[in-house]
Amino acid sequence: MRKPFVAGNWKMNKTVEQASLLVADLLPGLQAIQKIERVLCPPFPSLMVISQMIAGTDIGLGAQNMHWEESGAFTGEVAPAMVKEFCDYVIVGHSERRQFFAETDQTVNAKVKAALKMGLTPIVCVGETITENEAGRTAEIVQREVLEGLKDLSSEDAVKLVIAYEPIWAIGTGKAATSQQAEDIIGKIVRGSLADRFGSESAEQIRILYGGSVKGSNAAEFFGMPDIDGALVGGASLKADEFIQICQAAQGSIK
Ligand code: PGA
Repeated sequence: MRKPFVAGNWKMNKTVEQASLLVADLLPGLQAIQKIERVLCPPFPSLMVISQMIAGTDIGLGAQNMHWEESGAFTGEVAPAMVKEFCDYVIVGHSERRQFFAETDQTVNAKVKAALKMGLTPIVCVGETITENEAGRTAEIVQREVLEGLKDLSSEDAVKLVIAYEPIWAIGTGKAATSQQAEDIIGKIVRGSLADRFGSESAEQIRILYGGSVKGSNAAEFFGMPDIDGALVGGASLKADEFIQICQAAQGSIK
């Protein structure tokens, strides 16, 4: 049984003060939801304060990015050990990082390895652009991102990570994929590639999320699909009631 997983990717939103207010709003609702893994991924400056606010709860904290090197002359970067001081999770290879900050399958792979070595759970993002989608290249792109991003990993390590399939055309557009479209790619391509690479027993253990315009009103539909184990939520994670509703939908999907 894969435990449902919902993560909120706040992106570059909320000052520390605003972040604290949002967490205060989220806490009662999130604490009432017990059976799913729920993770907040605020910007770096808020990690310390939020880690204190959620101490003693089972709510998880994640960073949105990190460097793969341990330390050194990498101005503006944050090392795995610095993330680990506050977090148990880290988002790796989000499409915005790939698009605006030159992340490649190789840097994603280096970060995944560094995260696992540090005992962090990587949330590895994959997904195709609208052009790739319209050209019928979705399967090829997603498979490549999964296999290259997880290159050289053992099955033992692979089962520890979480993958998020986020079609880029669905991110922040309000135009989510249909639950069937998401299930087809997640089940056949993502889990299928994982099964080919790590064996079906391992592939069955790996949580795979859908991301892209998930909100309170459409979440249950995604979670009802057999291969979709949760969601990576952007815009709707900035509103306490929406994010709580999504987590409740995930809890409601447990059979
Ligand atoms: P969205 O973003 O929910 O605002 O579409 C999802 C993401 O980028 O992770």
